[in-house]
Amino acid sequence: MKVIEQPVATGLGDKAFSLAVKTVQAGVIQHLDRLRKPERTPYSGEFVEKMGALGIDMRKIGWKGAMTFLPYRAEYLIRQIESKPPKRLLEVGAGSSTLLFSALAHKYGFEVVSLENHGGTVDYVDYLLEGTPFAKHVCLQICGFKRCFYPDGKAYWWYAADLSGAPFDFVFVDGPMSSLVGRNGALPQAMPYLAAETRVFVDDVNREHEKAALQEWKHYFPEIQVDEECPGLGRVLVRR
Ligand SMILES: C[S@@+](CC[C@H](N)C(=O)[O-])C[C@H]1O[C@@H](n2cnc3c(N)ncnc32)[C@H](O)[C@@H]1O
Repeated sequence: MKVIEQPVATGLGDKAFSLAVKTVQAGVIQHLDRLRKPERTPYSGEFVEKMGALGIDMRKIGWKGAMTFLPYRAEYLIRQIESKPPKRLLEVGAGSSTLLFSALAHKYGFEVVSLENHGGTVDYVDYLLEGTPFAKHVCLQICGFKRCFYPDGKAYWWYAADLSGAPFDFVFVDGPMSSLVGRNGALPQAMPYLAAETRVFVDDVNREHEKAALQEWKHYFPEIQVDEECPGLGRVLVRR
């Protein structure tokens, strides 16, 4: 896996915000998360088989943990990718999903760019991908945060990432943490780097923050189409 540490954003406010998020995630949330019991039902035999067919070692994965996306949503995303493999996939918020996308990237020959700010998650992804043939398809950017603005002046936070290169035609938004930073920056910041036809998926749209992010995007980008074919997973179709 290629890991790039992006330079910290230049503004004092950006630096202070990035440090505050880092401190809370590493000093508080990480420890609370360890104490939480897995709330989710174990994955089905069929799911384990599917992962095995992709070459994924399920013994390593923390899919039953609290902070990761649900197996039925993973299965839906696998169908989305297999029915039309992307050329370049952007993952916003790394974790177990990085392993899944990298295995699919290995099978279908695409590139994965993943954005993450939390060191614990970077280590976890490194552990998941270590020794796999998938790792070479992933470029993980470790980013702080920067203050961004819509054209009308409305502000939001997003990763200080570098999205240049070939356009992305598949985006999965599962970070940064909604409670600390918010996910609403993904579309306005990624929009200039999207292909003519792009599928954007947003996890956890059953929650208020994610619902509001979709509303915000519909307001600023009235041309997008939004649906929820898979419960809890928003799909945004961007045609440019
Ligand atoms: C929902 S998680 C991302 C999950 C990832 N896409 C997956 O499927 O595993 C969103 C963000 O929460 C943060 N996070 C996850 N686990 C954490 C932990 N144990 N402590 C602190 N932050 C954590 C990371 O910054 C991550 O990008």
